[in-house]
Amino acid sequence: MTAAPWKGLILAGGTGSRLYPLTHAVNKHLLPVFDKPMIYYPLTTLMLGGLKDFVVVSTPDSIPQIKALLNSGSNWGINFTYVAQDKPGGIAEGFRVAANELQGHRVALILGDNIFYGDGLSKRIEEATKQTSGATIFGYEVADPTAFGVVELGKDGKAVSLEEKPKHPKSNFAVPGIYFYDPDVLDIAWSLKPSGRGELEITDVNRAYLERGDLNVITIGRGVAWLDGGTHADLFEAGQFIKVVEERTGLKVACPEEIAFRKGFIDRDQFAKLVDSKPTTEYQRYLSRMLSEIK
Ligand code: DAU
Repeated sequence: MTAAPWKGLILAGGTGSRLYPLTHAVNKHLLPVFDKPMIYYPLTTLMLGGLKDFVVVSTPDSIPQIKALLNSGSNWGINFTYVAQDKPGGIAEGFRVAANELQGHRVALILGDNIFYGDGLSKRIEEATKQTSGATIFGYEVADPTAFGVVELGKDGKAVSLEEKPKHPKSNFAVPGIYFYDPDVLDIAWSLKPSGRGELEITDVNRAYLERGDLNVITIGRGVAWLDGGTHADLFEAGQFIKVVEERTGLKVACPEEIAFRKGFIDRDQFAKLVDSKPTTEYQRYLSRMLSEIK
């Protein structure tokens, strides 16, 4: 039996209240992280893992803004469907609002404000996409895990417990906002009850897989940077990080056109057309350079 196809679920809703007033008129996921809109980073993380079919969840007000940026995806050889989440009822509510689109699929969920960069990242994501049943999450060691989902690992590297924003964390392994699930995730999402803070928690989804004995945890080491754009300081630091990497290497992080071409989602002619269609900018010159450099 062939496994269900993958769909990427990109969460780009919420109020962005920690970034007020930046987010008063603009959706948080469209704010700049150095030279690109924030949503390019999580999107390209999943594209690097080979995903081509995406559902973008956002607020009714923000969907037109996000659509204006991403359109149908056809220019990049991928596909976007947009689904509104009326109120920010929690990350796991994303499965419920997008249920019609996700039915019968495996789901790779990524939070629209999570930025990943580093060696071996694509390989780990590809590894996660090989899973045909159960769930895969990641563990990333951080100095202060109290603002995250936290996974406690046994000696064998398997998950022992999961907690959301614990005051007294049982480990330093935070769970980053990228998760891979089999099609059962929809039933699990429908069975959840809101937490004390009134949200459907992604940590409760992961705990359901842990209780079934079906949760795989991949730890990500120091070679990978994981950042998010949650606060003004986070956003500023993420932008600086990308600036340093891009200026040092001369290569862009999270450029969807380049990744679509490198992954073979579009061919050379389609890429050349894209380059021609861009306004004459530094971004266009970069794509034009990639057209001649990528063999
Ligand atoms: O960044 C990783 C962490 O993300 C995980 O370690 C936590 O387990 C997980 O709960 C989450 O924690 P946050 O407190 O950072 O989540 P936040 O409410 O900031 O939402 C993360 C993203 O999801 C954000 O870009 C907005 C979007 N979102 C959030 C909610 C609650 C939605 O699209 N809809 C929502 O209802």
